[in-house]
Formats: sequence, C-alpha cells, structure tokens
Amino acid sequence: MGKSSEISGFYKLSMSERAKKVKEFADLTDEELKAITSTGVLDPDLVNRMIENVVGTMPVPLGYACNFMINGKDYIVPMAIEEPSVVAAASNLAKLCRSTGGFKASMTDPIMIGQIQLVNAKTPHEARLNILSHKDEILQMANECDPVLVKFGGGAKDVQVRVLESKVGPMVITHLLVDTRDAMGANAVNTMAEALAPYLEKITGGRVYLRIISNLAIFRLARSTATWSKEELGGEEVVDGIITAWAFAEADPFRCATHNKGIMNGITAVVLATGNDTRAVEAGAHAYASYKGNGTYKPLTTYEKDANGNLVGSIELPMAVGLVGGATKTHPTAKANVKILGVKDAKELGCIMASVGLAQNLAALKALSTEGIQRGHMSLHARNTAIQAGAAIEEVDAVVKELIARKKVRVDVAEEVLKDLRAKKGKK
Ligand code: MEV
Repeated sequence: MGKSSEISGFYKLSMSERAKKVKEFADLTDEELKAITSTGVLDPDLVNRMIENVVGTMPVPLGYACNFMINGKDYIVPMAIEEPSVVAAASNLAKLCRSTGGFKASMTDPIMIGQIQLVNAKTPHEARLNILSHKDEILQMANECDPVLVKFGGGAKDVQVRVLESKVGPMVITHLLVDTRDAMGANAVNTMAEALAPYLEKITGGRVYLRIISNLAIFRLARSTATWSKEELGGEEVVDGIITAWAFAEADPFRCATHNKGIMNGITAVVLATGNDTRAVEAGAHAYASYKGNGTYKPLTTYEKDANGNLVGSIELPMAVGLVGGATKTHPTAKANVKILGVKDAKELGCIMASVGLAQNLAALKALSTEGIQRGHMSLHARNTAIQAGAAIEEVDAVVKELIARKKVRVDVAEEVLKDLRAKKGKK
C-alpha cells in the first residue's frame, strides 16, 4: 500500500514540521527539502499567515520591461514569469511604438458585480420587479456594510435583476454594481451580497443560495491602443502578416485560445508582480472573450491599418486589480513593484496591464507571421542547455554560440562543446 496523505493536524504543525512530513512522504533529499522551504525575502511568519499548510515559497523570475510610454508617461514594468522571451518581447514592441506616441490607455470606473442567486420565487418576474422597486433600500443596506469605501467615493451604485431559465427552473439573479475604488473588491462585494440576501428573501418569498462576486467584470474595462509605423515593424508585408494572423484568431477558437494566452503572458506577469489575483484577471479575460462574441470565443485585441498603412492595435478587457488589500499591501516585493510603477490609482495600473497585453500579443503575432517564434526562443533555450550541461557563467556565451552554429541545442552536444572548450583553454 502507498503512503497515506491523510495527515491529522497538519495545519497545526510548524512550517518545519510540515516540511518534515512532506519530506518523509516523498523521500526528499536534503537538497530538495531546502528547495521547498526557503522563504527568500519574505518573513516566514508572514508567509505562514498568507495561506494554509505553508512550508515555504516558490520563487519565480522577476524581470522589468522597459520602453513603456503610456498616456505620455514612462514606466518600467515588473513582470513575474517563468517563461523566457516574454519580457524581451514586451519591451521590444513597447519601444517600436514610442515614435508614434506610445500607448493611449483608459479605464472605466472600477465597477464590480456581486451576484445574488434567488430560487423558489412563486412569480419570478414579479419578484424581479419587486427587487428593482426596492433599489434605494438595497443600495443603502449594501453601503452600510462599507462606510470607508463610500467615504472614498465608492460603494454600491446600482441594482440589475434578470430572470434566468436554468436546469432547475427559473432563478432571479440580482446584480449589485459596486464601485470598489482602489480595491480589487472581492471582499467588499461578497460582504454586501451576503448582507442583502435575507432582505431579498423577505421581499420575494424566495430562497437565496449563492452570494458572490462575478469575475466577468464587464463594467471594469481597461483599454489601450497604439500605432506601429510600418517601417518600424519591417514593412507592409509584415503588417499584412500580423493582420492575417489576427484574422485567424478572430475566425477560429482553437487559434484564439493561444492568441489570448499570449496576451495573458504579459498581463498575468504584471498582475503577479504587483501581488494581484492572477486567477481573477485570467477568468475575467477569457469569459469576456466569449461574452463579446455572444458566446463565441474572440480575441481580446484588434488590428487594423490606418490611412498610411501603419498598424493600429487595440485591446479591451476586464481588469479587476487593486492597490489596497491582499498581497499588494503585505508582500514586500509587490509593494516595491507598485512603487517602481509609480501609479496613483488602480485605474492607472489597469492601463499599464492592458498596454503590456497589447505589446505582448503584437510581439507574438509579428514573430509567428514572419520568422516563427522558435528562433527567438533558441538562444535562451541554448543558455539553459549550456547551464544544464555544467557550463560556468563565463563559459555560457561560448557554448551558446557553438550550439546555435551547429543548430543542435541539446545537453549532450553542450557537454561535448564544453569539453572541447576546456581542452582548448587547457592547451593555452
Ligand atoms: C507562447 O507562450 C505564446 C504564443 O503561443 C502566443 C501566440 O501564439 O499568439 C506565442
């Protein structure tokens, strides 16, 4: 029989005791134990309070994209991501639109939706109107939950109600629209939705089940556009190739999933680097990609040519990110990254993220429709291969050069190259 993962009281143990249990379970070496227990710059007590059953942290590379000019202001953009080429690609395409003024970005007010699911209303359509007729009371009740948010100009602003046909009969779905200001907003919205439930039951005679934020944040949209001159991109043919690549994604969900994945390579990296909720932003982006196509999955970006044949790109997607609450305020690296960005509010942060997504997407489309992405990946891949083969830092460049010249980026070849290199050095 295999070992049991049912470890009673695991959560009550100290971090090192938990690590010991995991080590025993998986027969980890001391080296492997070290790899899962390091907490880096984070105070172990802080890490232990952030999630449950903590043992250590998992560091990811943190790079900084340069060249971003958005609404006339320059930014160095932090990106936390394990995938090579992403940071370089974003920096590159951000540079290529500086001559035409950089990115022009904007964001709507930070309105999130709280959903309240009500069933068993005898007359659901009447219940809907009943809820709408109590809008003022509902908003007041919701706002009493968060006077601080209201003080800063946020709070519950509107109520929308639909009757939804479902597999278990009609449901009355109330949307509470909440301006969450500089917070991502899940806590504020969920608290309000929970507080309203008994009142909605009282005025409709129905029963409430779910009371939760929606990540399809259609009222909290970030937008960015930029123009890339055809000369900077490499000519008319390159522009046409990019538009053709985009049209493929527009027509085909299989391609579109990868197209939008490329956008999220950039956005998620900034979301993570600033301590925001990557899953919320990802869910919002992909759901919006279907929502805007009335159920058909569509690209989050659009490309067209201007009168001079230059490429005009645009992006629009939900951006539920904040500057207060959660890891943004507790994680020292996230705090430093927010300072590096120098943003005054969450809207400005959203503008940066949308612009990074656009640059990232264009970089991918440009590479894919011209030389393909493998060539760009090759030198980074060769670097990793050289290191894997045991090359010291000062030997890496020479090994990489030789691997690329031989067009064989493999560890066994790197070992051979390294051996030759060292033999030659020894002779000198
Ligand atoms: C790889 O992480 C992202 C791309 O596949 C995006 C795309 O195909 O557009 C290059």
